[in-house]
Amino acid sequence: MAPKSSSHESHKRAFITGAASGLGRELALRFARAGYRICVADIHEARANAVVDEIRALGQDAFFYHCDVSRDEDLQNAVAAMNDRWGGTDVLINNAGVAGGGPFDWLTLDDWHWMMNINFNGVLRGCHAFVPAMKEQGHGHIVNIASMAGLLNPPGMSNYNVAKAAVVSLSETLAPELHPFGIGVTCVCPSFFRTNLGESLRSPDLSTQQTLNKLVDNSTDLSAADIADRIFTAVVSNKFLLIPHEKAVTAWQRKCADLDDHLQAQHVLAENLKQRARRSN
Ligand SMILES: NC(=O)c1ccc[n+]([C@@H]2O[C@H](COP(=O)([O-])OP(=O)(O)OC[C@H]3O[C@@H](n4cnc5c(N)ncnc54)[C@H](O)[C@@H]3O)[C@@H](O)[C@H]2O)c1
Repeated sequence: MAPKSSSHESHKRAFITGAASGLGRELALRFARAGYRICVADIHEARANAVVDEIRALGQDAFFYHCDVSRDEDLQNAVAAMNDRWGGTDVLINNAGVAGGGPFDWLTLDDWHWMMNINFNGVLRGCHAFVPAMKEQGHGHIVNIASMAGLLNPPGMSNYNVAKAAVVSLSETLAPELHPFGIGVTCVCPSFFRTNLGESLRSPDLSTQQTLNKLVDNSTDLSAADIADRIFTAVVSNKFLLIPHEKAVTAWQRKCADLDDHLQAQHVLAENLKQRARRSN
């Protein structure tokens, strides 16, 4: 079947990190359906190659690029890989991420470094590598996948929250800064949705592990495909902040209206964490 594409979007080129699974995979398929050629960048080679096959079955060109977002050189070399293959990159999607959390004092500094190095520095590395090339070509769009955790900062997820809040901050800084160069920025803050994210979960607390896994597995209001679709629309319309879940929009508005009230409401979650925390080692 021929891929659906608009004349505006066809033949563009997207580089997507974490594209082997979950949201990244759905983004790869959504953009491919719109006529994009896709670089599937991930550390999971077998899953990534399966996504490459799916994209080719849609009639689009795609290739796998082994990219560990915790390594500077993997992102730096990605720019050249995209240039060699297709002469440049129109859309960069910094999506790769891992899950973590637990009581603040149970998290080791190593837990923090691991989380920051992937969930924030991975996004930073992507932006740092691709922005010069996008400036030179005079156009481009960057999508950074953050989380509602980066806006609402729920208790028991400090390292994940801080990494995602940093993604929001970097994105918000870059949006106006890159505008004069024809580069758009979209920052995405989803609540939980069903993917393989639980596979990467690292926590010293058994109840955090169980709760996060349940939240990811039982969230059915929006699928990864639904969110990918909304992200595609946000890119085409150059929208900055995308909060795909409606309930989360309400929570975000409440927090903006009264931060103390928001923090008060978090006490219930914190009490729950205190009662249920159990060391996993
Ligand atoms: N699923 C949710 O509930 C949820 C909610 C909010 C935000 N997010 C964010 O969405 C993004 C996508 O996650 P997902 O839910 O699709 O999870 P997922 O586990 O299904 O997909 C994540 C992908 O990232 C890859 N990855 C992990 N570490 C990597 C690294 N160092 N370098 C390159 N690739 C790496 C994995 O191999 C995997 O293919 C993440 O940034 C996550 O934080 C997810």
